[in-house]
Amino acid sequence: MFPFICTWKDGRCAQVDDVLPDGHKVKKGDEVYYLAYAMGRMPYIWGEDAEEFQPERWLKDGVFQPQSSFQFISFHAGPRICLGKEFAYRQMKILSIVLLRYFRFKLSNNAQDAAYRVTITLHMKGGLHVCATPRTT
Ligand code: HEM
Repeated sequence: MFPFICTWKDGRCAQVDDVLPDGHKVKKGDEVYYLAYAMGRMPYIWGEDAEEFQPERWLKDGVFQPQSSFQFISFHAGPRICLGKEFAYRQMKILSIVLLRYFRFKLSNNAQDAAYRVTITLHMKGGLHVCATPRTT
């Protein structure tokens, strides 16, 4: 199978007739996709509060708890999982640490609804305007 990649969906095209692990048959040329965007919002996977922004669901006693890569599918899973996953995590952590060490952030408009503009990558609809105040201590 060879991949089709996009940030919110990913999939494979069968090069030969095949049988998936759940017994589902695919014919040569069939395409099979999963939608990372939808999987990240499914109560079946994340519980009834799946739609709520709850970063603490990733924490236990304040310590980050990685989820199965088959559950949090953004970096793919299995033998062809993203080779840059740990690198990407480290970059995000370093940037967050540097920004939060030197600035306090507050939404410019507390009433603003943080919504997506759905494109091939997810953008903030109208941007997310924040005030950054330098930390003095
Ligand atoms: C937030 C950042 C990133 C996301 C969400 C992401 C996501 C993905 C996904 C979904 C795949 C699987 C594609 C497929 O086979 O269908 C993939 C593959 C890959 N990614 Fe990333 N990636 C990210 C960052 C990076 C970075 C920073 C690097 C390198 C420094 C990288 C290197 C790779 C490589 C080499 C593969 C191919 C692995 C293989 O086919 O064996 N990625 N990535």
